[in-house]
Amino acid sequence: CGIVAYVGPKDAAPILLEGLQRLEYRGYDSAGVVVANKGLKMRKVKGRVADLAAAVPARFKGTTGIGHTRWATHGVPSDVNAHPHLSNDERIAVVHNGIIENADELRGKLEADGATFLSETDTEVLAHLIARTVKETDSLQEAVRLALKRVVGTYGIAVVDSERPGEVVVARNGSPIVLGIGEKEMFAASDVAALVRYTRQVVHLEDGELAVLRADGFSTFASDARETAKEPLTVDWEAAHYDTGGYEHYLLKEISEQPETVARTLRGRLDDRFHVAHLGGLNMDARETRSFRRVKIIGCGSAYYSGQIGAQLIEELARIPADAEPASEFRYRNPVVEPDTLYVAISQSGETYDTLAAVQELKRKGGRVLGIVNTVGSAIARECDGGVYLHAGPEVSVASTKAFTSTAAAFALLALHLGRVRDLSPADGRRICEGLRRLPDQIKEILALEPQIKELAHKYADSPSIMFVGRVRGYPVAREGAQKLKEVSYVHAEAYPASELKHGPLALIGPEMPTVAIVPDDELLDKNLTTLGEIRARGGKVLMVGHRVADAKLADDCLVVPKNEVELDPILLGIPLQLFAYHAAVALGRDVDKPRNLAKSVTVE
Ligand code: G6P
Repeated sequence: CGIVAYVGPKDAAPILLEGLQRLEYRGYDSAGVVVANKGLKMRKVKGRVADLAAAVPARFKGTTGIGHTRWATHGVPSDVNAHPHLSNDERIAVVHNGIIENADELRGKLEADGATFLSETDTEVLAHLIARTVKETDSLQEAVRLALKRVVGTYGIAVVDSERPGEVVVARNGSPIVLGIGEKEMFAASDVAALVRYTRQVVHLEDGELAVLRADGFSTFASDARETAKEPLTVDWEAAHYDTGGYEHYLLKEISEQPETVARTLRGRLDDRFHVAHLGGLNMDARETRSFRRVKIIGCGSAYYSGQIGAQLIEELARIPADAEPASEFRYRNPVVEPDTLYVAISQSGETYDTLAAVQELKRKGGRVLGIVNTVGSAIARECDGGVYLHAGPEVSVASTKAFTSTAAAFALLALHLGRVRDLSPADGRRICEGLRRLPDQIKEILALEPQIKELAHKYADSPSIMFVGRVRGYPVAREGAQKLKEVSYVHAEAYPASELKHGPLALIGPEMPTVAIVPDDELLDKNLTTLGEIRARGGKVLMVGHRVADAKLADDCLVVPKNEVELDPILLGIPLQLFAYHAAVALGRDVDKPRNLAKSVTVE
């Protein structure tokens, strides 16, 4: 979900609507705004931000306001369940991201106290609670602070009080809130995307913190009401990064940006003299870097799959046992945290709640955690002991592409670094450095295959289901390929290690179910080619993605992509599958950038 807030000299509504548009990729089933001007004026609708904009009348004046775009958790998407939510006296309006766990209990108490609930949301309890506390104190921030003391759960909230136009209070616990500092105006949002058009000076709230915003500045407070000191941070993402830049969809734009975004991930980090990687953000000396005996990688969705590629790179180049696990599972299974394990958390947004909670659990148990994160200053980045920023620029399309590829490239750097303080030879270090430098041009070559990939996507898009297979290095590539296809085209796809096909899923193979096979030219080539034969013998069609033209006759269709070092090939092999998913989705008329039921950043459990 997305939150925006404004206080200053200008009309709030256009600024809020523009901010919500920027945040729509965070959730998009309903949207609403409130402005304060002799009472509160509110509009909210089920649907997209464009529907809300159409519902906001020209005379919707007020220079203080809050807005929200929703991704339903409690209560179906509807006009009444849309945010903001008002107190019964219409004095307080609240927008909220997160989940109030004790909402039912609070609701019962508030109803007993005379509150009438209009919606099914957990958020509405906040409006009623604050409306009660505000009468006992003459400060909105104190009222919000006292109300939040009764709340169990996660929240990022923004609150206005009709009796205090010119003031917005925001608070964070588990769900991001960023303040934007303007010239005699203040902004707040759940994501810098909504702010960069107006200011680059931002302040991230910590969990438990609360801020009061007025046109002339802001103050922040800890949960015990003590004032906190905050240093503003300058973000280098520009408003232009959030435009489609002439492309029909963000997804295609972000796929096409990859030669440059991978180059940015690598820039300044490869040392041609010693064939090592410079990763200053790790905050570890060589001795400490050598001390780890195991690497555990966590992340959600595509971040998890890129972590599987990362684990493989680390095992191969550094010979340290490494594996990846979904952060959402890891955090719930009371993991054994060992001092000689290096933990690596991956997140594009830096705000995914499951990943953040896993990092916090690790830190509580004394684990050493690095972050591979795209968003500078995000919660996960701040929580980690050190890490590697991707510098891939903002990713707007819900389905991750450039962040995925940059994460894989960042893992190659980390693996090189871990390897070169151990047994990776200078010669191998050099081979990897040179291979990494070739990536951007090779990505360009892959992008040039788009017409062919589009044709193939059209050919396969009608299949009820598609199998993706790969072995060892190819397996995470297959998993991400299947994930992309599912996310944006809604075609069912399943990924399997090619070696496991004969242990079960081969029963599914037939003319109805084609297979996309990842077949790199590595030591497993022959085994993979045998698998293709097994599939085709059962009448299954095969689209092979690999390196050797000579093998094309063993498949029904073949995409030949440029070859790099065997260890680095997975970074490239995923890219044609992104284009495949994109064109399948377009062919099927899907909402490519905002697939149904999904959100870019899941800041709830
Ligand atoms: C959501 C998105 C996925 C993304 C995952 C992790 O589920 O829909 O595309 O891979 O979150 O996001 P993160 O920002 O932590 O990388």
